[in-house]
Amino acid sequence: MPRQTSKPAANAATTKKQRHTKPERTSACRVALIGFGTVGRAVTKILCENGDGSLRLTHICNRNIEEKKQPWVPSDVIWTDDVAAVLNSDVDIVIELIGGLDPAGKIVRSALESGKSVVTANKQLIARHGPELLQLASRKGCQIEFGASVAGGVPVLPALRTGLCGDRLHGIAGILNGTCNYILSRIENARIPFSEALEEAQARGYAEADASEDLDGGDARAKLAILALAGLHTQVAPESIRARTIRAVDAVDFDYAAELACTIRQISRADLKNDTLFADVGPCLVPTDSPFGRVQRNLNLVLTSGQYGGDMAFLGAGAGGDPTAVAVVSDLMFVAQSLSAGGDPKGAGKKDAAGSVSTPGISTPISRPKISSDFETPWYLRFFVRDQPGIVARLAQIMAAHHLNIDSLLQKPGFEKSSLPFVITLEPCHDSMLHPALEEMSGLEFSIRPCLCLPILR
Ligand SMILES: NC(=O)c1ccc[n+]([C@@H]2O[C@H](COP(=O)([O-])OP(=O)(O)OC[C@H]3O[C@@H](n4cnc5c(N)ncnc54)[C@H](OP(=O)(O)O)[C@@H]3O)[C@@H](O)[C@H]2O)c1
Repeated sequence: MPRQTSKPAANAATTKKQRHTKPERTSACRVALIGFGTVGRAVTKILCENGDGSLRLTHICNRNIEEKKQPWVPSDVIWTDDVAAVLNSDVDIVIELIGGLDPAGKIVRSALESGKSVVTANKQLIARHGPELLQLASRKGCQIEFGASVAGGVPVLPALRTGLCGDRLHGIAGILNGTCNYILSRIENARIPFSEALEEAQARGYAEADASEDLDGGDARAKLAILALAGLHTQVAPESIRARTIRAVDAVDFDYAAELACTIRQISRADLKNDTLFADVGPCLVPTDSPFGRVQRNLNLVLTSGQYGGDMAFLGAGAGGDPTAVAVVSDLMFVAQSLSAGGDPKGAGKKDAAGSVSTPGISTPISRPKISSDFETPWYLRFFVRDQPGIVARLAQIMAAHHLNIDSLLQKPGFEKSSLPFVITLEPCHDSMLHPALEEMSGLEFSIRPCLCLPILR
């Protein structure tokens, strides 16, 4: 997705016109920060320690503000809990760092309505309302930037908007949730149970007390929707992307995955083919020596595939106050540069005859494709059964009836016969072919846990 405001004008005539509508500014941009939490504090620190003179922090706004005040913040910064007063002030840019949909959405809309540009790290808000907010900003002649909303400090969104906007991207895949990656790579390295890895992540501050949004894929699919908007120019409701949980992954799955020269990661993928966006978030087998297989701890990795430029990779800290703050301050500097150049994004965000929304900076319209999770891949099926004769024959019979080809059968020794894990891998087939067979298998009397079914990404 493009930057909301044009880059410095491409020719002298445009420059003259822009200067006519918005004069170049000579003073620093006035900036208000709303939400003095983990990221807000880190942003304030960078602005106070490392300012280049183009940005001047004027307000810090938070509820219970008296408890938030810090002696290291310059004395001319106004501390307040009055959001309305900040929005009615003469600031040029509002930084929204409170998170969530409400009241963050109201604050962002209100700032844009009054012609103030916005920088936010709020993935939930942008995933659900990004196109609408971009259009509002465009109508009001201001900007909204959200580079920190995906992969924290990894500058993948700015890269999609600028460095890669000359390509025609057709695929994006990523490890977008550091909590899941921490848990899965801990199980991989220490072969501890899922519950123990989760507790450890919570104790280290990598997972919240209720980590459902992370574990069940809600967080990653919101980020994937933003990446699809920015890189594939598609508008997708996050809820329309299938999300599969990592909760069912067991230490034994890493033993079986290793037999296949693979490990397990939560992968978010989106492939645009004609008018369909194939998208999915969930645990997958990936080769141990692949870029995804090598990502450890809570790092993020995004891979893009383009028609002309081929594959690109972006790796780094996907969360944490300081890395995320770098992305926020970079967005602030970009907006300040646009304002100082008298940038005017008006004219962008219009609908074409087919109702597609064009966003500024690219000619490609934003489309609303069909969403599908019907990828064609090889599959890993792990069963836990009560051992008895004829199990494999019964499973093979069901698969044959559904035209599924078995590739291999893996069974490690040393397990109790009352709870025996074994694995069947399948040759490539569509998700839609596999699921009726899985349903039939779920009712079998020897099955003691639902079958874990993971795509194998080669
Ligand atoms: N932390 C990360 O690593 C990270 C990475 C990427 C993106 N983000 C995004 O960055 C944003 C901020 O995250 P964070 O980790 O800094 O969150 P946080 O530590 O919870 O900070 C949020 C701050 O906003 C304040 N706040 C919440 N609701 C408010 C309201 N209605 N009015 C006034 N103040 C309010 C909170 O005050 P109280 O202290 O009183 O609750 C808190 O100080 C979120 O959108 C998040 O998704 C965070």
